[in-house]
Amino acid sequence: MTITIDGYAGTGKSTAARLLAEAIGYELLNTGAMYRAIGEVLDREGIDLEHVPRAVTKIRNIVKKCHFELRNNIVFINGEDRNAHLRTERMNALASKVGTFKEVREHLKAEQIRIATGKNIICEGRDQGTVVFPKAILKFFFIANAEVRALRRMLDLEKINSTESYHEIYDQIIARDLQDETRELDPLKEPANAVRIDTSTMKIDEVLMKMFTACQAVNIFKL
Ligand code: DC
Repeated sequence: MTITIDGYAGTGKSTAARLLAEAIGYELLNTGAMYRAIGEVLDREGIDLEHVPRAVTKIRNIVKKCHFELRNNIVFINGEDRNAHLRTERMNALASKVGTFKEVREHLKAEQIRIATGKNIICEGRDQGTVVFPKAILKFFFIANAEVRALRRMLDLEKINSTESYHEIYDQIIARDLQDETRELDPLKEPANAVRIDTSTMKIDEVLMKMFTACQAVNIFKL
């Protein structure tokens, strides 16, 4: 069975997805990590991501060789765990950019379906409930206001000694929202029949309680 969690960057969906997966004994697929990994591969291949039309065939050839696996809930690309390198602001922007490419979305959709088949799994991202698993047993949609998200991101970045200002981070969040919501292919939007969770003023345990209640309603119970 598949549960989907979609929503905006910085809404706390990854943390909630991880804790819910642990609690109900589901595997977890973070699809953002797949977009980030592809962004890194294309960047390393020297593809100028701002001028896609010129590089479409090259991108298609590189992307179709990217094979993904899930090992202990960690996304591996071509046998490698690149996650430690994929969390910078630059990688955020690259991932959001490659998310606009048809070749990438089609390949990742097929990979996500292959990975999820036959598993009890939570798939987290931007298009999981709308496009990849429209028949999921349960769908969540996470939102939160941009000010709260920027503040959370700033506190996270301070832990790794980043000196980016609140205003810089706020502007990046707004730019990423715009890119994710307005891209032509599979834009971020609320899935039909999703449980909407606004985390602006909620603590993580309140978020989880709401998720458990929704799970119980479809006969998925805590372990
Ligand atoms: O969840 P994340 O912040 O790691 O995702 C990084 C980017 O990847 C996000 O800005 C858009 C893209 N993405 C996507 O287009 N579709 C998904 N299912 C997941 C991520």
